[in-house]
Amino acid sequence: MKIAIVGAGYVGLVSGACFADFGFEVTCVDANPDKIAALEAGKVPIYEPGLAELLDRSVRRGLIRFTSDLAGAVAGAEVIFIAVGTPSRRGDGYADLTYVYSAAEEIGRAIGASSEGHRTVVVKSTVPVGTGDEVERILSRTLSRERFGVASNPEFLREGAAIEDFKRPDRVVVGTEDERTRQTMARVYRPLSLNQAPVFYTDRRSAELTKYAANAFLATKITFINEMADLCEATGANVQDVARGIGLDRRIGPKFLNAGPGYGGSCFPKDTVALIKTAQDHGTPTRIVETVASVNEQRKRAMARKVVRAMGGEVRERTVAILGLTFKPNTDDMRDAPSIAIVRGLQDAGARIVAFDPEGEANARDVMENVRFARDPYECARGADAAVIVTEWDVLRALDLDRLKAALARPVLVDLRNVYEPEVMRERGFAYTPIGRVD
Ligand code: UGA
Repeated sequence: MKIAIVGAGYVGLVSGACFADFGFEVTCVDANPDKIAALEAGKVPIYEPGLAELLDRSVRRGLIRFTSDLAGAVAGAEVIFIAVGTPSRRGDGYADLTYVYSAAEEIGRAIGASSEGHRTVVVKSTVPVGTGDEVERILSRTLSRERFGVASNPEFLREGAAIEDFKRPDRVVVGTEDERTRQTMARVYRPLSLNQAPVFYTDRRSAELTKYAANAFLATKITFINEMADLCEATGANVQDVARGIGLDRRIGPKFLNAGPGYGGSCFPKDTVALIKTAQDHGTPTRIVETVASVNEQRKRAMARKVVRAMGGEVRERTVAILGLTFKPNTDDMRDAPSIAIVRGLQDAGARIVAFDPEGEANARDVMENVRFARDPYECARGADAAVIVTEWDVLRALDLDRLKAALARPVLVDLRNVYEPEVMRERGFAYTPIGRVD
């Protein structure tokens, strides 16, 4: 089977690499010629563990290629995925569907101009409910209805674990409106069903909404435990024990109950806001999700105040070492990272910032001002009045604590990811502030 993937971003590249690894012939299309040139030269534009190796293997086997020629790629493909970005529209927070619709128009023209044969157009981008209907309308301007089907197939992979998530997902969700499209999708996902992954078929609108509902639910779970963490701090309880205690109930489950500085990234912040907009438009506001989004925003700023408190209430002319900047480990992604609000909050209070991140420095430079970057955690801590762990990178999980303490001007460590144990830190002579736990 020949597959074309329009959009060589995160989802497009990972899906393309994995489909090629399953033996399909994949063409990845992107409008950005620089990105295509880089991919052809073997350079992967994003940091994702294992992706470069996987792409390299498929390139050598001749199963994946990269091009800016959408028409050419689509002409030969039986299944065409739309995996372009759906960023938040500036000003109003709706998902911006410009790229999805212009991809659909180009695909329609390309199929119209090519030889006969049925095509399945699959929307993999995260899109508001009803977008598949609009894609179908766009395609039917240039194509007769018998020539194509439109499926919704949202992606649930996490950055940093994307390949594993793609190949061994908890589930695949496929939304279709006709039997032929459904059967084509069953062939696409046959390799995954051999991995015992449940492929769940539903109608298109339900599939579209499932994606937003899943992300909103996970964002809610995180925000819930973050509020419990605040309550734990106020009452002397331990949020990690509370999380374990509730997570052992299989109806709740143990995952996504790690308290932290608030969720960030390219998905939860924009998808919760887009869902809120859709729900308001339909006269059925999602008040829980509205609260989650605003509590999370406030939390990021509150984390700067927590650091100020840990430093004795005054940070003017003091230096704070920020350890970890990306919204989570194993990515270079800085989109909506809590570190941005934390750094800004500390700077507003008069602090100087020095920061270290293993992969995120280049992207961080684009979104942060007046920050000095260090090459490693110890250089970062040198002479600083406090260190703050914002992202739980592996290199920050096993720090040489004596070396860190010796580097710091004052042994103050704020651990926004609960990487360390309060008793151990106290013994080591740190003034240690974790999340949701008190000494
Ligand atoms: C998220 C979802 O987990 C994926 O299933 C989904 O496919 C993806 O969005 C998407 O819509 O594309 P991702 O944004 O890569 O994936 O990252 P997560 O691992 O979900 O983490 C999101 C944020 O929540 C991070 O800032 C992380 O630090 C935070 N988080 C996560 C917590 O604070 N506590 C937790 O227990 C878990």
